[in-house]
Amino acid sequence: MVNTLDKSFVTGSSWKPDLFKGKVVFVTGGAGTICRVQVEAMVLLGCKAAILGREEKKTIDAAKEIESLVRSPTENDDADPIVLPLGNIDVRNFDQLKNAVKKTVDTFGHIDYLIAGAAGNFICDFMNLSPNAFKSVIDIDLLGSFNTVKACASQLIKNKGSVLFVSATFHYYGVPFQLHVGAAKAGIDALSNNLAVELGPLGVRSNCIAPGAIGQTEGFKRLTGTDFEEKSLNKIPLQRLGTTRDIAEATVFLFSPAASYISGSVMVVDGGMWHTGTYF
Ligand code: HXC
Repeated sequence: MVNTLDKSFVTGSSWKPDLFKGKVVFVTGGAGTICRVQVEAMVLLGCKAAILGREEKKTIDAAKEIESLVRSPTENDDADPIVLPLGNIDVRNFDQLKNAVKKTVDTFGHIDYLIAGAAGNFICDFMNLSPNAFKSVIDIDLLGSFNTVKACASQLIKNKGSVLFVSATFHYYGVPFQLHVGAAKAGIDALSNNLAVELGPLGVRSNCIAPGAIGQTEGFKRLTGTDFEEKSLNKIPLQRLGTTRDIAEATVFLFSPAASYISGSVMVVDGGMWHTGTYF
């Protein structure tokens, strides 16, 4: 598998191995490509995780694979869970999320961090975008992010936790065929900013990561086709596609104590691309 980390993330990086020991992260979209590697990084640094997804088998398989990064092969199958798979969950359904929070707290005792990463996307121009297609993406991305943070709010406040939304850069410059996602992600940025103001006094930080063109991901395949790399590298000032590890490193930083005074920010991880004003 290409999009995965290993123990060298701890030994060969800026992070100390037990950075998140005793902490729990709750991740929607946690079996997908970008969010899965965010989970891997957190788990490799001592965190426990609940990963939520619509597809049960994909969620269970991802949880096993992520756990195998930190478990010794001789450990029993009935050892305490490190990654809790929660499948059949649609972030548009608040009751399903409340139930997932309860299962997470029953299993791990608490939730400290939240990654709201579940997203839907497809390429479509405005003239062909139906009201229901627009609504579907707004509901998954924006309402889903709201529902997730709402369901986790009491845990985050109790534990002085931290929220990370997965945003994008499309709405900075009007990327064609991404009107629905741009509108949703603009809303997510606003949601995060407001939460930073309202929950900051309660000890909760709220930030966004805005990935650029991250290679070998579901979103990248859907959006760019196969010839993006050869045609478009010159649009990226740092002259390479992003990696899921780039997003994982930014995630670890934003949850770490090094970011304890950072709230209401959007960390753009795109090699400087959006400043060139082009995507496709
Ligand atoms: C136009 C489309 C469409 C397409 C669906 N629709 N696909 N319209 N072009 N390619 C329309 C349908 O016709 C329907 O409208 C409406 O959208 C809802 O479709 P459903 O299939 O009923 O909805 P649902 O099952 O909820 O699926 C949601 C989805 C789907 C977003 C449409 O693609 C999905 O489930 N995606 C989840 C996985 C995913 O997208 N992962 C990528 C995330 S990556 P009508 O009018 O016919 O009823 C990502 C990264 C972005 O977001 C950043 C990259 C850098």
